Amino acid sequence: MAFSRWLEHLPWVVELTGNAVQISIVWLFHFLGYFLVVGTTTIVDLRILGLAGKGQNLDKLAKQLFPWTWLGLLFVTVSGFLMFAGYAGQFFPAGVFWVKIGVFVVAIIFGVIVQRNVPRWSSMASIPSSAKAIALISIILWFGMILASVEVPAFIACI
Ligand code: HEM
Repeated sequence: MAFSRWLEHLPWVVELTGNAVQISIVWLFHFLGYFLVVGTTTIVDLRILGLAGKGQNLDKLAKQLFPWTWLGLLFVTVSGFLMFAGYAGQFFPAGVFWVKIGVFVVAIIFGVIVQRNVPRWSSMASIPSSAKAIALISIILWFGMILASVEVPAFIACI
């Protein structure tokens, strides 16, 4: 808690949070990153489930999209930290914010599992059920992540 109070009172954090243009750009990057991460991972997951891009080679499709996923992750993490920093004292005790971060970490772990296994699954005659289960869980996790995100303001008086 002392750390969050220290963080939100840092001069550059106060300046950034209080400047409407600067903080709006940070929010813009948060949403851009969010669309990149959730959009690209969902397309690959739906391809694994056989619900999208059926005519496309899974490995080729995933290799085109994964760099955008990692760029999106960079955007959400940096912008999310800056957004957190401005009101750290209020976010820190909000359990729902930590649920969001927890689901985020688990969703990334599933994303990495998919990324590592895509070349193998792609070379098989048919995609195994275990891969489909992982892809489905990945989609559910991102959905949960968005739900947790939109619930955070309800617990934070300042947003
Ligand atoms: C792909 C991952 C992420 C997604 C999909 C996501 C989604 C969102 C959404 C939809 C909002 C707006 C909520 C609203 O005002 O209704 C939001 C806000 C916010 N996000 Fe993220 N976020 C992600 C990652 C992160 C990370 C990694 C952090 C922290 C390091 C973070 C910190 C915040 C903060 C502090 C806010 C403002 C408070 C709030 O409204 O929740 N986000 N995020």
